[in-house]
Amino acid sequence: MVQRVFLAAVLLVVALAVTAHPALSAPASGEAVYQKRCAACHDSTNPRVPPRDLLKKLPAARILRALDFGVMMNVASPMTRDEREAVAAFLGIAGRDAAPSPKNYCTDRNVNLTNIPKGAWNGWSPGTENNRYQSRDAAGLTADQVQRLKLKWAYGFDGDVNAIGAPTVIGRYLFVGSAGGAVQALDVRSGCVHWIFQADGPVRSAILAVPVDKNSSRHALMFGDLTGWYYSVDASTGRLLWKKRIESHDSVRLTGAAVAYQDMIFVPAASWEETRSTNTDYPCCTFRGSVTALRIKDGSQVWKTYTIEEEPKELKNPNAVGQWGPSGAGVWSSPTLDVKRGVLYITTGDNFSSPGTSMSDAVAALEIKTGRIMWAKQVTPNDVFSGACTTKPGGCPGPDFDFGSSALLLKLANGRELLFAGQKSGVVYALDPERKGEIVWQTRVGKGSANGGVQWGMASDGQKIYAQVSDVARIRRGNADPADPNTSNLDPNQGGGLTALRAENGEKAWYAPPAPCGSKPGCSPAQPGAVTAIPGVVFSGSVDGHIRALSTDDGHVLWDFDTVRSYETVNGVKANGGSLDGAGPVIVGGMVFVNSGYSKNGGLPGNVLLAFAPEN
Ligand code: HEC
Repeated sequence: MVQRVFLAAVLLVVALAVTAHPALSAPASGEAVYQKRCAACHDSTNPRVPPRDLLKKLPAARILRALDFGVMMNVASPMTRDEREAVAAFLGIAGRDAAPSPKNYCTDRNVNLTNIPKGAWNGWSPGTENNRYQSRDAAGLTADQVQRLKLKWAYGFDGDVNAIGAPTVIGRYLFVGSAGGAVQALDVRSGCVHWIFQADGPVRSAILAVPVDKNSSRHALMFGDLTGWYYSVDASTGRLLWKKRIESHDSVRLTGAAVAYQDMIFVPAASWEETRSTNTDYPCCTFRGSVTALRIKDGSQVWKTYTIEEEPKELKNPNAVGQWGPSGAGVWSSPTLDVKRGVLYITTGDNFSSPGTSMSDAVAALEIKTGRIMWAKQVTPNDVFSGACTTKPGGCPGPDFDFGSSALLLKLANGRELLFAGQKSGVVYALDPERKGEIVWQTRVGKGSANGGVQWGMASDGQKIYAQVSDVARIRRGNADPADPNTSNLDPNQGGGLTALRAENGEKAWYAPPAPCGSKPGCSPAQPGAVTAIPGVVFSGSVDGHIRALSTDDGHVLWDFDTVRSYETVNGVKANGGSLDGAGPVIVGGMVFVNSGYSKNGGLPGNVLLAFAPEN
């Protein structure tokens, strides 16, 4: 998944860098990194750019955050972990960001989680079949009440420009990560803070609560960060139980949530190496997607399966994409459990370099016990795509059609079970789990592109599949400010739309066109975020910042809330809403939780978690 919008900014940085030597393996000097990657803007007198003296007053943690998942994300995309840490340490003040002020804490600082009640939203989806559907009882909301949803409270992520975490809600507790790497345990009724755990990198994966062992009422929270660390944290106190690096590769990204079965959890791994290879100095590419099974009790490994069996080798072919391969086929989404068949379904992304492999852009079944690949159904062969060839004449052989979202496992009214997967190509597939993923039907719901099609996930009530598409489009700015890290605007007239498909045959039941979003800068009707459904209602977020609830009968809008504004937050942090992208809304016990703000891909920044409940 490469973000083309970054390319021009990255190229500018690369152009500035030609005088410095590439320091890919030697430990990075913070000062050298600054000269190479930052000085051209931050030593300039451009009024839009905070000068170096000002950066020196910021905590190093905040600078790192700006690079990892903040305003400098585009600029930093070709930089190694080492370089980021070195430049942040060189510029900033040592030590952590300030903790939240005590007035935001709940009177009871502990979380009392002795069981996972039915109807919890634990992990990416309420159930391990990943249908993002909440039953009537668990949702506690009728279509009528949805029309009367009002904002109850807002919580701000301090210093962030993205609200990327996928909330988990269990009973009275909400657990959510942030771009700043703070995992917070909040009270669902008031938004007060029970505890905060500081991870080493941004946490966007949904958090999964599991009993620490079979006979225990003690629970651990499991999640990964975007720098490759995986954590187990005591749910009651927020203290670390163990942490582990899932992959040694330095551009690993743990985006998808894990799922658990018995004493194991299954952790998917993806990578940002595809973007990083826009840096022509970078020897692209060596990352391979994987799923790792870990023991819940201590994080020890049970098995690990790569989506590409062979290790990457140096490529001698001058026509090859990249210098090393094969690579890629990351697993971006949460695996889907099928206990009856003893398998775990995963979806994979594209190859980053030559040669194309058989399990990229595929849905695959892995044996739960051993990780053995039982079958894999590839839908787009030879999808080799990376930053390394977006600048080459002729481009990439592949269209960059990852599966970015989980497969849904559904039992239909006629008793048949099918797997459903939506691709960035804009095509939704139904596959037969009994016949090695044979395609039962396929329906196009969008145009598809590197940032298009179905991105973060569909929802289903068992009758219909709700698939919304990004299909975001960009307009290059004619005379962009050289200090501006964003080089294009989103096209306000292209992208978006939600299609309801009949699960049994893929026919279109209805189509809800995108809402026009006017001419506000950064506005786009694209709908890349994950969809959520409850009986009668499907919830859909858009890059324009709106969260909408549509009737599952015909797609008409029941409720619409524009999240783009500033908020008084319960924790006193200055917060704004922005684009909705990534994780979708979470609905539990009569409340709807929405994270707003996503400056990546040219969207609107924001840093707020919103909690809605119906006015009686
Ligand atoms: C292409 C020009 C450009 C380059 C190169 C650049 N910056 Fe920036 N930087 C900006 C601009 C413009 C802003 C102000 C953005 C805003 O406030 O919207 C900024 C803001 C920042 C901030 C403030 C973020 C905050 O939390 O408020 C930090 C920290 C920062 N840059 C660090 C860096 C570092 C470190 C580098 C080098 C690795 C770098 N920048 C390279 C243009 C650049």
